[in-house]
Amino acid sequence: MPIKYHSQSRVFHLFNNEISYIFKIIDNEQLGQLYYGKHLTDRGDFDHLFEYASRDMAPYSFEDDSTFSLEHIKQEYPAFGCGDMRYPAYEIEQANGSKIVEFGYQSHRIYGGKPKLPGLPATYTERDDEAVTLEVVLHDAYIKMQIVLSYTIYEKFPVICKNTRFICEEDAPSSVTLMRALSGCMDLPDSNYEMLELAGAWSREREIKTRTLECGIQGVYSMRGSSSYQYNPFLALKRPNADEFAGEVIGFSLVYSGSFLAQVEVDNYDVARVTLGIHPDQFKWLLIPGESFQTSEMVMVYSDMGLNKMSQTYHELYRTRLARGYWRDRERPILINNWEATYFDFNEQKLLKLARKASNLGIELFVLDDGWFGKRNDDTSSLGDWYPNEVKLGGSLKQLAERITALGMQFGIWIEPEMVNKDSDLYRSHPDWVLAEVGRHMCHSRNQYVLDFTRAEVREYILQMLEPLLQEVPISYVKWDMNRTISEAYSNGNDRIYQGQVYHKYILGVYELYDRLTTRFPNILFESCASGGARFDPGMLYYAPQTWTSDNTDAVCRLKIQYGTSLVYPLSSIGSHVSASPNHQTSRLAPIETRADAAYFGTFGYEMDLTALCDSDLEKIKAQILFMKRHRKLLQQGTFFRLKSPFDGNETAWMVVAENKQAAIVGYYRVLQPINIGFMRLVLAGLNGEYKYRISGYKYECYGDELMAVGMIISDVSSGVKTKDKTEKGDFISRVFYLEAN
Ligand code: DGJ
Repeated sequence: MPIKYHSQSRVFHLFNNEISYIFKIIDNEQLGQLYYGKHLTDRGDFDHLFEYASRDMAPYSFEDDSTFSLEHIKQEYPAFGCGDMRYPAYEIEQANGSKIVEFGYQSHRIYGGKPKLPGLPATYTERDDEAVTLEVVLHDAYIKMQIVLSYTIYEKFPVICKNTRFICEEDAPSSVTLMRALSGCMDLPDSNYEMLELAGAWSREREIKTRTLECGIQGVYSMRGSSSYQYNPFLALKRPNADEFAGEVIGFSLVYSGSFLAQVEVDNYDVARVTLGIHPDQFKWLLIPGESFQTSEMVMVYSDMGLNKMSQTYHELYRTRLARGYWRDRERPILINNWEATYFDFNEQKLLKLARKASNLGIELFVLDDGWFGKRNDDTSSLGDWYPNEVKLGGSLKQLAERITALGMQFGIWIEPEMVNKDSDLYRSHPDWVLAEVGRHMCHSRNQYVLDFTRAEVREYILQMLEPLLQEVPISYVKWDMNRTISEAYSNGNDRIYQGQVYHKYILGVYELYDRLTTRFPNILFESCASGGARFDPGMLYYAPQTWTSDNTDAVCRLKIQYGTSLVYPLSSIGSHVSASPNHQTSRLAPIETRADAAYFGTFGYEMDLTALCDSDLEKIKAQILFMKRHRKLLQQGTFFRLKSPFDGNETAWMVVAENKQAAIVGYYRVLQPINIGFMRLVLAGLNGEYKYRISGYKYECYGDELMAVGMIISDVSSGVKTKDKTEKGDFISRVFYLEAN
């Protein structure tokens, strides 16, 4: 699986069995992009793919050549001030105010494996033969700076990972300021694509939106200090005829949790330039001689088999080579979270009653959510004071944890380490530790303020409070929440020239604290959370292998939320709970079966007052837990297929297939009850055509080829049509089918 450099033609060809990525050193020593897509046979020369033209009125690089204009050349990492009039990938302001640069090829290096990115999350290799990395060094002799463009290609994934490092050399004449430092760029030769994005809001996260690419700028972004629920750091370009199963799709995902920009610029000659990285607005990074700046990583996935193939690639890559540690490959514990059961209103008795019930049902982990510390009985106080409220807990946190673990369950807690309330000892002693300009008005959100995680002493203080708890109390799970965006991005602890670093340094600070805690407590399962899904991004998955997907636990809403989330993120990362009916967010009444059928396709747990349920529901829950325990490996680690989109109609369907195709689980959901409609079939995917499958609830068996061509007959579930055996009527009906090969 090589990366080849053809020295005669000065071409780099990165390829594996599925894809090729080709670029070359062009006449002005910059890098020109030639191709990204399906695998091409290697050859010494791909020069015929280098397109240039004599177009009137363009800025030309050479005095005797009116064909070579960067305005029309597809590039690898375009700069400002060289004749390319489109948005650049980077901008460097120099001591004299100039932003004009001339970075040209200096050297390159090809080696096995993939280096870590200092302080940043990134995909990785476990062995050097899994992937090959190419580093191309560009140099500007005037300002004595290097740009190192890194590319990694894995042997078994149709993936190219890119990142960029800016180095101001020791003997550089002066400091410079990075005004824009994107992770990478991809100039595609045409714009006949639709752009898919994941957009939303609180409780309505990651809805799939599609728009046709048009001339000009289109994109998604966050300027909130977190990746946000408004937009996810991801976009995909798909051919208009591509769907879940067929057609060309390219995914672009950013391994980053802070303010980001993901943009497509279509120029007036239909070239589509995709750029991703740290949002350049409010970004200004001083580099003094001897210093360097590392961008986050961008992960590009190519699929010629539609969106499912793109997602399956992201799932496997992110589940096995981005997520790390003890929990990466382990089945996730089935949990009970007390939030929707009690909110802030709990005491030791209530918690133990809930825990006993949970334990009797077979639940494995008890999570104590918000409200166990300081004097917090609502959201107005105590964030920052991570001291257990022993009156409320009826003793120490350790005693409570021991009582719960004695019931045969593990114990976990909720924290929100990045935040502070004004009503807290922390704020009273350090009012300047918040991000805001002291003396000016500052916005609150849920009565809380953002701690200045750019400052090492702030992070250290929080660590010093949390570490003893995690050390002394038998805690095996931590839910790390973050319930607001950063509005006043100003650090009282930093000089004027560093204020443009605040957003990025903040998230580096978050990563650092995560790193210290996960290194110190490697067996604790971390679940990230940000008012539900406001920080569901690849950066977080590097530290916390699962994320609370949404504060919206309504099963019907969850179909869309989980379907959209699955575009990039594996089921093992999708936090999903069964909650009460009527649902607390929507007041919808849905059967307990439907609520579980949606939650199975994720990490699975309960978030409801189990002590208030009738016996029949409790019996059903027992059976659900047994089902999940039996099948969670398949559900969390199998290959996921989206079959029917909740964004297209009344039905949703998806399925997971085991690697050996011996087993599969299909989830089918029908939102509203139709009447007197036609017969319905559900065509499956990913099975072995020659295997004969038993299907739970069906009296006959079917070969895989039949299930993937004819489909399963599901008229009784989908329409409520009376069959010999069963009539199922009503809104919000679902079914989960287990398929097993003989
Ligand atoms: C927001 C989270 O998403 C909820 O699950 C819960 O933990 C609350 N915060 C607690 O304040």
